[in-house]
Amino acid sequence: MNLKRVVNSGFLGLVVFLLFQACTSGPKSDTGHEHDMVMHDKVMKAPMDHGVEKAICVLQSTEGNSVSGSITFTKTDSGMLVKGEVSGLTPGKHGFHIHEFGDLTAPDGTSAGGHFNPGGHDHGAPHGEMRHVGDLGNLEANADGIATYEVTYLGMMMEGPESILGRGIIVHADEDDLVSQPTGAAGARVAMGVIGVAKSE
Ligand code: CU
Ligand code: ZN
Repeated sequence: MNLKRVVNSGFLGLVVFLLFQACTSGPKSDTGHEHDMVMHDKVMKAPMDHGVEKAICVLQSTEGNSVSGSITFTKTDSGMLVKGEVSGLTPGKHGFHIHEFGDLTAPDGTSAGGHFNPGGHDHGAPHGEMRHVGDLGNLEANADGIATYEVTYLGMMMEGPESILGRGIIVHADEDDLVSQPTGAAGARVAMGVIGVAKSE
């Protein structure tokens, strides 16, 4: 089949044919090469799947606030379970996100950067079609200022370029409206923390 085409298109075709022959050695086809690469890739990634199983973020107050709490991230069969309790909040909803940097040097939490967004998407709701990996929605504090959170996420990773390990967590003063760009208009930062490796049970 290839040979027929080469004959029909004359000299140029012959040159292309010869180049093609030079680029492939022996009976192995291009498809064979691709397959080898995919297999190799799988072999290299496999050991990382048994890496970190659990992570934890201990929250500390930003300047002028008295918010505390901790959030755990646990790999489960149905996704990443994000669970925790935060206290010292004003009653109501508070924007809650994974931010790009685990840098808590700024007293107001701004050193944590923007929302963790490795995919370059728009800000959105926790289970929205378009969202940042870091969009965890809102914590909702009761009359005592205590919020509990328990949500399972698909596609949240602890390895590779989208890993949440070492990233920051920020709790905001105001509610995340889930639509305003790029932050959900959640206001000042009242608590911050870094997601670190935890001992798995
Ligand atoms: Cu935030
Ligand atoms: Zn976001």
